[in-house]
Amino acid sequence: MRPPTHLACKSFLAAGVLAALLGGRAEAQQLQALPVPPQDWSFRGATGRFDYASVQRGFAVYSQVCASCHSLRQMTYGDLSSLGLDADQLHDIAASQPVPAGTDAAGNVVLRAATPGDHFRLPYANEAAARAANAGALPPDQSRLAGTIQGGPSFIQAYLTGFRDTPSSVTLGPGMHYNIYVPGNAIAMPDVLHDAHVRYTDGTRATTPQMAHDVSNFLAWVAQPHLEERHRLGIRVLVYLTLLLVLVAVLKRRVWASVRI
Ligand code: HEC
Repeated sequence: MRPPTHLACKSFLAAGVLAALLGGRAEAQQLQALPVPPQDWSFRGATGRFDYASVQRGFAVYSQVCASCHSLRQMTYGDLSSLGLDADQLHDIAASQPVPAGTDAAGNVVLRAATPGDHFRLPYANEAAARAANAGALPPDQSRLAGTIQGGPSFIQAYLTGFRDTPSSVTLGPGMHYNIYVPGNAIAMPDVLHDAHVRYTDGTRATTPQMAHDVSNFLAWVAQPHLEERHRLGIRVLVYLTLLLVLVAVLKRRVWASVRI
């Protein structure tokens, strides 16, 4: 009796280990982040420039969608002037935003309309309030996000279009959402972009991929507002160095012309 039971037991164990391995691998495959498709950004390269029409639409997406959860602590309303907005437009944008202006005699927070010198309004009073509203997760500040997040603006664009229905084989924790581009495929941010969600004033159709592209362009501009200046300076330095090289070459010939060896 003993040997067969032993054998059966062994094969049962082996099958169990194999199933666990295979099962584990299948799960790991499902939960891996997909590679981010590369994007052709206009601001890349030594002479790259921002596509300002897209950056402006991206600001509309930020302010109508992302701003309810993500702060832009390092931006003032006046910083939008380099997007091509005139003083009246800046004033109107700022004036539509109520910002805190101290407290009244009873200790309640008093609000006033923002001016172009004010920093962007914060979505939450503090970190605890932000986490309480987002399943314990903190929406990161977006001032430098496009520069610091792995994959940069291409990741942000892919991520915003990467939300899917949770497959039946996957169980997510409470308050989590399924996204094919994040590690573990689970993130506390919901799918926020839906076709025609944002009102574009330049006639562009606000499809989800278009909005994802525009807001990624906007966040790239926010993270590197001096990029074009740096590109221009780089080109000037190159021209200067080339002229200097020619001058030095001419000078060298002159100096050595009279020397006979
Ligand atoms: C309802 C609130 C909410 C809105 C609206 C929202 N987000 Fe988020 N977002 C979050 C939270 C919460 C996290 C942190 C998720 C986590 O750590 O699990 C997050 C994280 C992110 C991340 C980092 C993802 C990562 O892999 O770490 C990016 C990028 C991002 N959001 C971009 C955006 C953009 C762009 C918009 C506007 C189109 C937007 N979010 C709108 C709540 C929001």
